[in-house]
Amino acid sequence: MDSAVTAPAPALDKPLMHYGKRTLDRMAPGAAQPDYRLLDVRPLTPHIGAEIDGVDLSRPIGEDLAEEIRQALLEWKVLFFRGQDAFDPQSQLAFAGLWGEPEENPFFPKGDTAGVTRLAKDAMVMGTENIWHSDHSFMAAPALGSVLRAIEVPSAGGDTMWADMAAAYDNLTDAMKDRIEGLTAVHDWVVSHGALMNESQRAAHRENLPAVEHPVVVRHPRTGRKVLYVNEPFTTRIVGLSDPESRELLDELVLQARIPEYQVRFRWQPGSVAVWDNIATQHYAISDYFPQRRVMERIAIAGVPLS
Ligand code: SIN
Repeated sequence: MDSAVTAPAPALDKPLMHYGKRTLDRMAPGAAQPDYRLLDVRPLTPHIGAEIDGVDLSRPIGEDLAEEIRQALLEWKVLFFRGQDAFDPQSQLAFAGLWGEPEENPFFPKGDTAGVTRLAKDAMVMGTENIWHSDHSFMAAPALGSVLRAIEVPSAGGDTMWADMAAAYDNLTDAMKDRIEGLTAVHDWVVSHGALMNESQRAAHRENLPAVEHPVVVRHPRTGRKVLYVNEPFTTRIVGLSDPESRELLDELVLQARIPEYQVRFRWQPGSVAVWDNIATQHYAISDYFPQRRVMERIAIAGVPLS
């Protein structure tokens, strides 16, 4: 950039560019650094995403190993395991069980195994996960995490990205933190999943899935860390604001997930497995591979109401 600019800068109420370093703390202030004795943890960025080597997830996972994996997930927010060729739906259910019970997605086709959702895309079936979101935020107790297994992947493309929403919160201005403190927002499936339905399908789903409210800034249920918890497809308005005010604020907040410093990107191979913290992160499945085929299976892990 030309440093010898002489024209006066236009008056802006918001900076257009994000110069300089960001606050990218991996863990909550004061949290102890875990000591891994059974895991080989290879970070993919300084604060989000790590590949874990030397673990066969198809074998029974003892309590010491389970505890290290849970610690690593709290630290890195998304973990990747490659070469898990013997990992099947039963081992995927057992692995997800390290955190909790499986939770069905009400809108996706069911897989052959109860609790396992099959996400199969090809020339005829478009991807609908290529928008920054956290799974099931439209539920009163949103999923705590998800486990995703790659079965068939395109020769190139079809990566998934995750964004660290605690880092996104940390880097908001103090004025913005003050503005959103104590606010709640409505989360609803109707403008995203509902847009692909007819009126009677929407009415049938509505009976079981009313719109819900969550704080705009939640405390992570395990770490207590503050997390920016609004997402583009499911957060429809901020309670207590006029429609234009709510839209303007939401537009600014949901954009935070798109900032590259908060992100990690994973290139899948058949047999790759990811587990993510669905409260601390949002994710985006890149739909750049059509008409090639991509087949994944996902288990969401039931969560708790957020505060
Ligand atoms: C999802 O949004 O849960 C699926 C992510 C993916 O298919 O990469």
